[in-house]
Amino acid sequence: MEASILNLALLHLLLLLLPSLSSIIAAVSDSEAAMISRRQLQSFSDPRGAVLPSSLEFNIEVEVEIRNPALRRAYSAFQALKNAIYSDPKNFTGNWVGPFVCSYKGVFCATFPEDPSLHFVASVDLNGADIAGFLPTELALLANATVFHANSNRFCGVIPEIFARLESMFEFDVSNNRLVGGFPRAVLRMPKLKYLDLRYNDFEGSLPAELFEKALDALFVNGNRFDSSLPENFGNSTVSIAILANNRLTGCIPRSIGRMANLNELILMGNKLDSCLPVEAGRLRNATVFDVGFNSLSGVVPESFAGMKNLEELDVSHNLLTGAIPNGVCQLPSLANFNFSYNYFEEAPPECRTREASKSLFDNSLNCISRRPKQRTEKVCGPVVSCPVDCRKFKCGYAASPPPPPSLFSSPPPPAQSPPPPPPAEIVLPPAGGFSYASPPPPMYKGY
Ligand SMILES: *[C@@H]1O[C@H](CO)[C@@H](O)[C@H](O)[C@H]1NC(C)=O
Ligand SMILES: *[C@@H]1O[C@H](CO)[C@@H](O)[C@H](O)[C@H]1NC(C)=O
Ligand SMILES: *[C@@H]1O[C@H](CO)[C@@H](O)[C@H](O)[C@H]1NC(C)=O
Ligand SMILES: *[C@@H]1O[C@H](CO)[C@@H](O)[C@H](O)[C@H]1NC(C)=O
Ligand SMILES: *[C@@H]1O[C@H](CO)[C@@H](O)[C@H](O)[C@H]1NC(C)=O
Repeated sequence: MEASILNLALLHLLLLLLPSLSSIIAAVSDSEAAMISRRQLQSFSDPRGAVLPSSLEFNIEVEVEIRNPALRRAYSAFQALKNAIYSDPKNFTGNWVGPFVCSYKGVFCATFPEDPSLHFVASVDLNGADIAGFLPTELALLANATVFHANSNRFCGVIPEIFARLESMFEFDVSNNRLVGGFPRAVLRMPKLKYLDLRYNDFEGSLPAELFEKALDALFVNGNRFDSSLPENFGNSTVSIAILANNRLTGCIPRSIGRMANLNELILMGNKLDSCLPVEAGRLRNATVFDVGFNSLSGVVPESFAGMKNLEELDVSHNLLTGAIPNGVCQLPSLANFNFSYNYFEEAPPECRTREASKSLFDNSLNCISRRPKQRTEKVCGPVVSCPVDCRKFKCGYAASPPPPPSLFSSPPPPAQSPPPPPPAEIVLPPAGGFSYASPPPPMYKGY
């Protein structure tokens, strides 16, 4: 009897402690995430969050009087966001009280050019607030906001479709949260969007072709669960930086890639791409970083890659590539880091040897290159290198591969089975920090 009363008391204590516990642990458990997401769905008057609640303005006029309509809508938006917060361990929203939203922490206002006395919310910066909750449809009322940064919080659920109404949005960063669902199509309809950062969430499904028709400057979708192939119009993208690493993308690297004239940095590492390397990539004259490591790419490194004149970093490691490293690639003047380890290359030309010797970071380990240290055994190499890949078989529109050079291993025909690819190592990128993967310092645009 006494024991069960004690248990009951303990249970009560636990229940009381629960909210504060969750803020101490500063993580959302799967069941909490599910609960928060259910609350988000209940708040939608339709299943996808495509419409705003109708009684919106009426509700707030009862509470406070704000004459500026833009700020009145903003007030509704932030009240809704406050109600959608489940835990705010840093008390980030502590001063979100009263009608003047421009003084709220993380909210920045500007004035309309037509009327400098009228304020509107220009930017919202919740970066690193560690807030757990969901994104309510009412945030779509911030129609004039150009920046929304919510990096490193614990937002769950989906990005409501009505966010398409954020027609002034220039930078949209919800990276490092727990957002789910298919690719958030709302962002495709933000006409002015330049900087899109969805990395480190749980988005899944396919990358829509429309994404690559947008006039974006930067695209970060790494660290999600996208599992489509890259659409054929990939190369229509205007981005200068595209980080699609660590998803489950399959299939071709589209030939259209050669049209990405603005491209400076492309990171496709850690996917399941299983085509050849397109010759057209050689047209990327302004590319400084080209990383396709940890995929299942086969065939050769095309001679044309020597056309990427500004290349500083080239990573093709952990694939199934064969043949000879093109001399021209090793001669690229700015190439400081060339990693072709964990493949089945048979030859690296003299220029590569010189660079390898001069200890710049040319990593050739675990290939099939004769008279080099740290190579694969003949038994492992033989079956792969004596079985040249016809790139046409991938149906990516590639031309026939050039005939392979006479192989050192042109011994008996290989067994049909090629050796298993190297185990896909678990790659964890830092959430923020470093040049390529860091979020921009808000609310400025340049300098990510
Ligand atoms: C949260 O911040 C507000 C305003 O800054 C303050 O009044 C309040 O006491 C804080 N709450 C806690 C729990 O620290
Ligand atoms: C503010 O948003 C409204 C509604 O989308 C739009 O009509 C107006 O042009 C915007 N003004 C500015 C200065 O962005
Ligand atoms: C991609 O660009 C090409 C050439 O500009 C254009 O013909 C094609 O329609 C675009 N693709 C899509 C899907 O819009
Ligand atoms: C490539 O870089 C050069 C030099 O920085 C620049 O002048 C040129 O406009 C760039 N080309 C494209 C298509 O961005
Ligand atoms: C090259 O890549 C392999 C596998 O991705 C990695 O283990 C190695 O450290 C890299 N080498 C250099 C010099 O970065």
